[in-house]
Amino acid sequence: MGAATPENPIVAVHSTGDGPSAWVAALKEEMPGVDARPALEIAGDDLARVDVSISWRLPHGVLARFPNLQLVQSIGAGVDHILEDPDRPGHVPIARLIDPFMATSMTHHIVMQILRWHRQADKFEGYKTEHHWPMSEAFDHRHLHVAILGLGTLGEHLSRALTALEIRSTGWTRSPRAVGGVASVSGPAALDDLLTRSNVVVCLLPLTTQTEGILGSDLFAKLPKGAFLVNVGRGGHLVEEDLIPALDSGRLSAAALDVFRQEPLPSDHPFWDDERIYITPHIAAEVNPSTASIVFAENIRRIRTGGTPTGLVDLGRGY
Ligand code: GLV
Repeated sequence: MGAATPENPIVAVHSTGDGPSAWVAALKEEMPGVDARPALEIAGDDLARVDVSISWRLPHGVLARFPNLQLVQSIGAGVDHILEDPDRPGHVPIARLIDPFMATSMTHHIVMQILRWHRQADKFEGYKTEHHWPMSEAFDHRHLHVAILGLGTLGEHLSRALTALEIRSTGWTRSPRAVGGVASVSGPAALDDLLTRSNVVVCLLPLTTQTEGILGSDLFAKLPKGAFLVNVGRGGHLVEEDLIPALDSGRLSAAALDVFRQEPLPSDHPFWDDERIYITPHIAAEVNPSTASIVFAENIRRIRTGGTPTGLVDLGRGY
């Protein structure tokens, strides 16, 4: 752990997009009396009073200005945006956000995309436009097998939901991780085998040097023809230039992408106009200030009383 908790500690809050004010307000609601302030407005002697940073994409170098920092809490399940800061004080623990609300929200998004693909929702939209009533359509969910890459809180939640929907799934992790009641395999050889048996691949992995570019032509080649890809991890997992060739060859029939190497996705990006690619703007599991603040408040209490926060990241592994 870092230095001792300073007197009259301050929580430094930062979020891109919606800005810090909703987060500050939600945290105060959950933890009356907390001194929470926008990180970029803290200056002078107050810098030494910051013990906790709660952030999404804090500009690099800001964490290094807090000499008594004890916890870096991510506003998000991923912590890659924190690890990327070259000036981050390396000894300060980092916590990812583990919020049941997000797990449910992520599962809803993925199930929506799988069913949209499996039940050919776009085709029926087209039929409606044409006032066309087809004679019959056969959908057989018994043929679905979902490979869930990454079996953390989100992957486990998804797996249980798919089971309830009678859709088979198998989770994959790089190193062995048994999760009660969830089918799972681990390691590179097991991944190859799993891919040959899976017509849906969902990427929920953390972005690390080991997983960067994992969704590329090598992985696609192992799938049965016509498979469906869902990437809700990070844009860096996908080798973007391999996707359209995999769709053109029929190896993949469609892909649902929520995350991209460059966000917002540039308006001239070829993915926009490809109807086989379903695009959402990084909204699969948006963080909710009121539910996330329950977790943040608990972690602040724990760090200030010598306890262990939830969601601590193994800094060696990067997740
Ligand atoms: C969002 O992408 C997150 O990390 O929660």
